[in-house]
This record gives sequence, structure tokens and C-alpha cells, in this order.
Amino acid sequence: MKILPVLLVLFMLNFVFSLENTFLGCYNNISPGKRISIEQYRSKTECIKECFTKYYRYSFIYNEGNCMCGNYLGEQISNDTCSECETCNPNIKINLTDTYATGNLVPGPPKNFVISNITESHVRLTWQEPESFVEISKYRIRAIVIHTYSSYSPYSPQWLYSNNTFQTELITLLPATKYNITLSTISPDGDGALVFRVIETKIDTPDSEPAKPEIIENRGHQIDIKLLPTSNNNGPVTSYKVIVVNEDLNQDFDQSILTSYHEANRNDLSYYITAELNPKDINKVFTIGDGQTYGPYYNAPLDPDVNYNIIVALISRLNGIEKIKYSNGAVTGGGVSILNVSDDQVGGDSPAVIIGLSIAIGLLTFMLIAGIIGFIILKSRVVNRRHRLSDNQELTLQGPMIEVENNGYIHEDEPIPVNHYRNLKQRVRTLPSNQLKVEPTNLLGVGRYGRVNSALFQEKDTDTEIPVTAYTIQDKKMSQETRKAMLEELDILIKVGKHENTIGLVGMCETSHLIYVVLEHASLNLKDVLLGSRDSLPGRFSNMSEAQALSIAVQIAKGMAHLDACKIIHKQLCARSVVISSGNVPKITSYGLAQYFSHNKIPDYTRWKAVEIFKNHPYNRKSDVWSFACLLWEICALGGTPYGSVANNEIPDKILKGLRLPQLQYIDHDFYQIMLDCWQLDFDERPTFMQLVDSLENLKENTIVSHLNFKLFPNFQYEQFYPDMELAVRPVF
Ligand SMILES: *[C@@H]1O[C@H](CO)[C@@H](O)[C@H](O)[C@H]1NC(C)=O
Ligand SMILES: *[C@@H]1O[C@H](CO)[C@@H](O)[C@H](O)[C@H]1NC(C)=O
Ligand SMILES: *[C@@H]1O[C@H](CO)[C@@H](O)[C@H](O)[C@H]1NC(C)=O
Ligand SMILES: *[C@@H]1O[C@H](CO)[C@@H](O)[C@H](O)[C@H]1NC(C)=O
Ligand SMILES: *[C@@H]1O[C@H](CO)[C@@H](O)[C@H](O)[C@H]1NC(C)=O
Ligand SMILES: *[C@@H]1O[C@H](CO)[C@@H](O)[C@H](O)[C@H]1NC(C)=O
Repeated sequence: MKILPVLLVLFMLNFVFSLENTFLGCYNNISPGKRISIEQYRSKTECIKECFTKYYRYSFIYNEGNCMCGNYLGEQISNDTCSECETCNPNIKINLTDTYATGNLVPGPPKNFVISNITESHVRLTWQEPESFVEISKYRIRAIVIHTYSSYSPYSPQWLYSNNTFQTELITLLPATKYNITLSTISPDGDGALVFRVIETKIDTPDSEPAKPEIIENRGHQIDIKLLPTSNNNGPVTSYKVIVVNEDLNQDFDQSILTSYHEANRNDLSYYITAELNPKDINKVFTIGDGQTYGPYYNAPLDPDVNYNIIVALISRLNGIEKIKYSNGAVTGGGVSILNVSDDQVGGDSPAVIIGLSIAIGLLTFMLIAGIIGFIILKSRVVNRRHRLSDNQELTLQGPMIEVENNGYIHEDEPIPVNHYRNLKQRVRTLPSNQLKVEPTNLLGVGRYGRVNSALFQEKDTDTEIPVTAYTIQDKKMSQETRKAMLEELDILIKVGKHENTIGLVGMCETSHLIYVVLEHASLNLKDVLLGSRDSLPGRFSNMSEAQALSIAVQIAKGMAHLDACKIIHKQLCARSVVISSGNVPKITSYGLAQYFSHNKIPDYTRWKAVEIFKNHPYNRKSDVWSFACLLWEICALGGTPYGSVANNEIPDKILKGLRLPQLQYIDHDFYQIMLDCWQLDFDERPTFMQLVDSLENLKENTIVSHLNFKLFPNFQYEQFYPDMELAVRPVF
């Protein structure tokens, strides 16, 4: 209890002491820059404190009762207080001020910080210059996750804007997530004061479909089903609804008129909600038709003569918004209903339908037989291959020696498989597990073989902790085929080795039951960086400079040239496959084991694919060159979607018919010609990555002509970004 007053006294002493120290002298108050007048103050100390809390550098006291704050000094008259000034002319004495430095050097908080237009993933920010500042280098915005329903890493992004930017849109936020969005200034004298607003993005449709209900027992009037819990990254799991559909009536299912049993009866609907269940009751067996009420819904007894389809809906509700995702249906009667409906429709008349059906059945039978034969052939091959492998060695990471076959991404003409894994211990650094701190709550994404988290690696002799990416591999749970595929992907990373512009392997870390493959870390994705650079500076439409954009292009070309030299075809090159490491270095990722995705957002690479792929030709090294030119266009379009006006399913046909990405108004013909060269039909005619490095470097060096120009022009519009067009519909793993 005694410590507190002592501290307080010390603090006050300190304050007074520092004030004594900040007296600067007697100054003429005719000075540049705005000054504000503090109306209510009683003492010198209060005046200085007031100016300090308002983020001013100086306080000016004159006439023994007036206080002003400002950031610029006038002319010094004397080193003493004005009243002690002997040389001072009494006529101007009225305009002399005792001047103190407040101790503050940094800018104040930006004014009028407003967040508007909040959607699932997007907000709009506007602000104004702080009231008090001397110089501002940049504005910094952070979005700190306070609460989210997403199991993915609550990575809190940060954006920097030039000092004449006063509005922006953040477009890559997580849905249903509470953010503390902070805005502050960076100045040559330190970081300025911060303002923050707490916002919550809207919920989005659940990202995973509920599991199809499992029919445990059908007793006629009642059906027992088992429901499985579903995870949702886009909002809370509020409840589950069980929906009963009378299959025999063959009505179209319209979710907008879905209602209770009685209401459905009144409206002659063949489907209704029979129960709304709390998520905590979901793991038990549920009986449809028990005559009870669940939530507002009557669970009506069923008709034993009807085939039912049971659907589960996942309901997510937050702040008055409801989003629903439906499961696939589980049909009673073993799917007989489909045949039964056909019988009804044929109804003994229309012979065309019968012929059509016979043909269809014939075809189906043929396909089935062909499938079975194919399966048998495949199976015998797999068995043979397994034999061959087990002749060599057990495929296990614990074992000392593993043969890795080089297929997949690697050229067919590769000489005899090299045993990379045997040399793994020498070629890949083994990281002691006590030096690797995996952050289990910071999930970056999920890869084919496990979860990928951020981690810190502590170098032994130094105290520095390097941020890394840890790919957890549960070796023991893997099938041999999966393990082999995993080793092949690891092999690719080993082959690529270290290159400035590719994501590389840091090492491997084994614990008793897990293996961590540790990769270089980079938190920013090029796509986000490009979209984030869309900015309305006066006279410009990007806060990225043309030189920066070209430099990114050159460096990606260098990374690709390296992959090409290692005989690796990437196949998935696009802005999302490039990350930006600290120091603004682009690094190619999404190759080999370095592939994982967050939020179930798997890119769909169709828009970047070369024409030969649509002709079912195999990928070749020049297919990557095609994709690279699409990536060049994407950089120039600041993250716009390639062929944004064309639907996904129309892309292959249009590319085959000659569609190419257009020349943007603000890139010149030389630059566009480089892209066109990469989109030639004959892939031998396309340039190599080494040639691309040269020609892009020439563009970059030659600054007399502007090959790329982010200056605003009349009627300028950003190339549209359509997130859905660039994402695969379903997760691939
Ligand atoms: C105040 O003192 C500093 C050094 O202590 C000196 O350089 C400066 O000329 C003095 N100013 C006046 C107005 O006397
Ligand atoms: C003196 O200060 C007053 C009030 O700040 C101002 O209005 C006036 O113009 C100043 N006079 C001179 C000679 O600077
Ligand atoms: C809010 O965002 C939508 C879509 O981005 C846009 O169409 C609309 O004009 C915006 N409204 C305001 C007030 O900015
Ligand atoms: C903005 O930055 C430029 C250069 O970085 C600087 O010259 C200018 O004074 C700054 N403007 C403000 C208002 O701080
Ligand atoms: C938001 O972040 C700022 C800076 O970290 C902090 O000072 C403030 O208390 C935070 N606000 C909330 C509500 O978390
Ligand atoms: C076929 O449907 C009819 C009514 O549409 C029903 O009476 C009959 O039991 C059904 N048959 C089978 C095998 O499901």
C-alpha cells in the first residue's frame, strides 16, 4: 500500500524535472505554422501538459496567462525568460513568449477515421490528416483479429499508404470476424498516435457442407438418423434443421418456401422442416417422426409407404443475418424412388422415352464393365509397383534409405532416379525440436499431408527467432502411396534448393510421432499486395511504383528460370502462387510440398493455363511461360481477374479459338508484345525464362519511354477482381 504514493511522488518529481529541462528561451511568436490557443489553464505546467497531450512539440506562454501550442519555433530572442530579458525592446515585449519543448515529437491521431460499407470480407476506410504533425512519411493500417469463428490463422494484416492517401478499401478480411482496425502515422521522428475502430464483418455462407445424414433404421413411421457436426469458418454454427422431402411427389425443392409440417400441408408442399436442433444435441441419434416438437417444428410421424429424402441444413446466424448450407440428401428405400419415378413417367406410352432409356441403360452397363476391367488392370499394376518398392526398402521416413521416383512435376527424361532421401540427413538441415516453436493456434492452411502452422525457429548461437512455416506430417498415419507422393514433393523442394526467388526448405524436425517440414516463411501473398496497392493517390491509381511492379516481374522470371534449370514444371503459376517476403522479395511457392491453402480457398488455375493444356497435351516447360505472361498481366491489372468477363466454363473454348488477354491502356506496345510472345500457339516459339528476365530487365532499365504507367487518366477503371472466378468450387484435399 505504501509503494503507490512513493511511485506517484517519483513520477511527479520526474515530470517537474523534465519540464525544467525543456525551457528553450524567450522567443518571438511571429512564426511559421499554425498555433492553437489553450483557453483554460492555470499554470505553466498545465499549459505544457495540455500541449503535450494534444501532440504539439512546443508550448508558448506569454503575458503570464496565455498559452499556445505549436510545432514551429519563431526567432530566439534570449536564453532567459522574457521577463528577465534585459536587451529586449519593451515595445515588442508583448509578443515575446516563454517557450518550452513539450517532449512530444510524433504526429497526433489522424482525424475523422470512419469505417463504412462493411461486408463479409471488405470494408471502406476514410480519414484526414492529424491536427498536429510536422511530417508524415506513411499511414499504417492494421486489422487485428479480436474474435473469429474461423479455425484458420487469425493473421492480422498490415498495410502502408503514402502520406497523401486518405481512403482505402480492405478486401481480404475474414467473414464474421471482429477486428480492431487501427490507423496511425509513421513519421521520421517515430510512430504517431493511433486511432482504432472495432468492426465485425458479416457472416458468409458456411464453407463446408453438412455431412449427409446417416440412416440408421427405418421403422416406417419413424426413421432413426445420425447427424455429424460440421465445422464452419464463416460464422457460428447456430443450429441444424432436419428437412424431410417426400421423394415420390417429385416436386422441385425451393428453399425459399421451406416451412413447417403443417404449413407445408396447407400449401401442398412435399417437403418440410421437421426439427431444429441445438449443435450440442447433434452427436446423438435423432428419430424423425416421434411426434415431439423441436424448436418451433412439429416432428410429424412419417408415412411408411413413401420414400423420403432426408436433408440437413446448417444454420449460421449472427447480428440478424442468417446463412444456410444444405447437405446432400439421404434417400430411404435405397434410392428405389428414382427408378419408380421413371416408371411413372414412361407410363406405358411414349416409345421414344423407352428407347432412350434402353440406350442409356446399355451405355451405363458398358461403362460399368469397362470400369471394372480398367480397375482390375490398374489394381494389378499397383500391386506390381508395391512389390517393386518393397523389394527396395520400406517407404518410411524413419528408415535409412528410400528410393524416390521422379515423376509428377519432373520431366520424363530425367535419368535414373536419384536417391535424394538417402542423402537427406546430409543435404537437409536437421533442426533440433527444442529450437522449433510451432504455434498451434496459428494455422496458415491445410496441405495434402497435414496442417501448416506458423512457427519460430531459434538459431542456436544467436538469440534471434526466425519466423518459419511448419508443415506437420503424421508419418505413421500415412498409406504407402501417400507417403511416396509426399516424399516426391519433398524431393522437389530439395532439388530446388535455395534461390532468392523461390520458397525453400529450411530443414526438417522429427519428434517421436511427428515430422515437421520447415519452410521459409512469408506472410503476404502477391495477389493481396496487388489488390492492396489499389489506391487513389492524387493523380495515380496505385501506390506501387511502376519500377516496383517491373522489379517483381523480373524477380519472378528469375525464380522461374531457376525452377526451369532444375527441370521442374510449376503448372500453377499465378499471383496467388507468389509470396512477398520481408524485404519485398517475391518468392515462388505452391510447388512441391510448399502447397497449402487457407479458408478452403483453393485457386482454380484455368485462367492461367496454356492453350495446349485445353487440347489435352501434357504440360511442358513453355506452358509455364504462358502462365507467366498471364501473371504479368495480373500484375499490371493490380490483381484484376484475367478474362473477367468470361465465365469459367467458357474459358477453354475461347482460348482455343484465339482469345488472349487484352492490352491494358496503360501498358505500351513493347511490354504487351512480350506477353503476346508468351501466348504463341507453338510453344517452341515462346521465349525462355532466361530470355524473359533479359527483356523485362531492359524494360525496367529503359525509363525514357514509359512501358507501364500508373498515372490516372480520364475514365480510368480498375480491372475487376472476381474472387469466385479464381477459386475452385470444392477443396481438393
Ligand atoms: C543561447 O545559448 C546558446 C548556447 O548555450 C547560444 O548558442 C545562443 O546564441 C544563445 N542565444 C541567445 C539569444 O543568447
Ligand atoms: C503581437 O501578437 C498579437 C497577438 O498574437 C498579434 O495580433 C500582433 O499582430 C503581434 N504584433 C506584432 C508586431 O507581431
Ligand atoms: C459499398 O460497397 C459496394 C460494393 O463494393 C458498392 O457497390 C457501394 O457503392 C458501396 N457503398 C458506399 C456507400 O461506398
Ligand atoms: C509526404 O512525403 C513526402 C516525401 O516522402 C514529403 O516530402 C512530404 O513533406 C510529406 N507530406 C506530409 C504532409 O508530411
Ligand atoms: C485496438 O488496438 C489498439 C492498439 O493495439 C489498442 O490500444 C486498443 O486498446 C485496441 N482496442 C480494442 C477494443 O481492443
Ligand atoms: C412407386 O411409387 C408409387 C407411388 O408413386 C408407390 O405406391 C410404390 O410403392 C412405389 N414403388 C416402389 C418400389 O418404391
